[in-house]
Amino acid sequence: MNLSVPIMLHDLHKSCSKGSINGRVFKRGYVMEHEKKEILFTRSVIDKRVQELADMISRDYQGKELMVIGILKGAFIFMADLIRSLQIACTVDFVRLASYGSKTVSSEQIVITKDIEVSIKGRDVLVVEDIVDTGLTLSYLVNRLKEREPQTLKVCVFLDKNERRKVAFEADYVGFHIEDRFVVGYGLDYNEMFRFLPDIYVIEE
Ligand code: IMP
Ligand code: MG
Repeated sequence: MNLSVPIMLHDLHKSCSKGSINGRVFKRGYVMEHEKKEILFTRSVIDKRVQELADMISRDYQGKELMVIGILKGAFIFMADLIRSLQIACTVDFVRLASYGSKTVSSEQIVITKDIEVSIKGRDVLVVEDIVDTGLTLSYLVNRLKEREPQTLKVCVFLDKNERRKVAFEADYVGFHIEDRFVVGYGLDYNEMFRFLPDIYVIEE
C-alpha cells in the first residue's frame, strides 16, 4: 500500500467532525483506525472487475451508439475507467442529483440540480452510478429519464448494497455486491472526503 495515503487520511481526518450520512453517525477517530485495517477492494481487483463490466457492455451494445450518463459526483472515477475499457464508441454526459430531508419511502425529495445537456430520445442510454443503496436515487432518475423516451435505458453501478433497499431497484450491470457497510474511495465520499483514494475502504459507525 502507498505509505502516503495514511498520512493524507490523518491530516484530512482532523478536519472531519462528527456527522451523519443516510442517518448513520460517524465519530472522530474511526476513519484512520479502519483505513489501516480494512481495504475492501484493492485497485487491482477493481481494475479487473471494471474490465469485465466493460467487456459485457461492449458485447451488449455492439453496433450501437451508446450514450453514457454519469451521476455526479460519485461516479466520475468509475465512469472514466469504464468508458476507457470499452471496445465500442460512446458519448458522455452528466447529471447531478440532490436529496432533501431524511430519506423515506418517498422519492419526492430528490431533485435534478444539473441536467444532461442533450436529448436522449431514441438513444441507447447507460446510466453509470457509484453505488445503489436505498434505491431511491436511481429509481427516481430512471423514471425521469424514461419520460424522455430513450430507445433503451440500462443502469451500471459499481457497488450494490441490496439489503438496504427501500424501493425495488435492480441495476443491469453490478461491479460488486457488498454488505451494509459504509465505503469510501474510488469516487465515493464521506462528507466530500476520500474520493481520491484509489482503493475502496470500509469506515465503520
Ligand atoms: P440511494 O438513493 O440510497 O440508493 O443512494 C445512493 C447514494 O448514496 C450514492 O450515490 C452515494 O452518494 C450515497 N451512498 C450510499 N452508500 C454509500 C457508501 O457506502 N459510501 C458513500 N456513499 C454512499
Ligand atoms: Mg452519489
